[in-house]
Amino acid sequence: MPLRIVHCGRIASTQDRARELLRAGDSGPLAVVAVAQSSARGRRGRVWVSPEGGLYASLLVPYEPLLSQRIGVALVRALRRFGVRAVLKWPNDVLVEGGKLAGILIEREGDRAIAGIGVNLEPVAVDGARSVRQAGGRVASPEALLEAVLREFEEMEADVLPAYRAALSTLGRPVRIERDDGVVLGEAVDVDHHGRLLVRGEAGVETIASGDCVHLRPARIDPGDGLDYSSSEGA
Ligand code: BTN
Repeated sequence: MPLRIVHCGRIASTQDRARELLRAGDSGPLAVVAVAQSSARGRRGRVWVSPEGGLYASLLVPYEPLLSQRIGVALVRALRRFGVRAVLKWPNDVLVEGGKLAGILIEREGDRAIAGIGVNLEPVAVDGARSVRQAGGRVASPEALLEAVLREFEEMEADVLPAYRAALSTLGRPVRIERDDGVVLGEAVDVDHHGRLLVRGEAGVETIASGDCVHLRPARIDPGDGLDYSSSEGA
């Protein structure tokens, strides 16, 4: 079923607007899109700076395992169509040239999910952030990018994991994972079928479900997609 698009002007958060629609009895599938947001949120309670000019959307869709990974891959593929050499950093930050270009926030509501997507099309005043414009991308409008993301999302192969692994620049790197209960250091060796990161450290392989990942050095191995990862990615 195609997604309905609900256009909003400047609102607090597309996540909140999508939740209001759900609670009012509209279970989608739909995408709430805002021109700007005044109190947008990111992962782990952070603020998502959302001035006019960026893409801010929340998809209200059935919940599925690996939804976040599916959206991440769709976003990377869509951005590459516009000339942006995007990659993923676990779990689902979109990076370009070592900086963060886009983020994804999944909030579950029973059998539905509200999947927030924020993309910097223009430069934003945030440490470590990059934009499509800075990366030399040619995106005509937020709507054009959203349309491409939704097409990639719809056309995604059933088994998302191989595509996710291929887009994930974290694999093969030394990483620091910051969790609520401490820090894990090691080499990111794989992701499992839940999208959890496997990190080989001094005490063996640890399975990480959530946290912030810092890439400590460029990859030792070529991820095989022909992209250049030589810049340091600590975003
Ligand atoms: C992250 O921290 O990386 C996730 C950022 C998600 C931001 C988007 S912008 C659209 C949607 N509305 C919000 O309030 N947040 C998400």
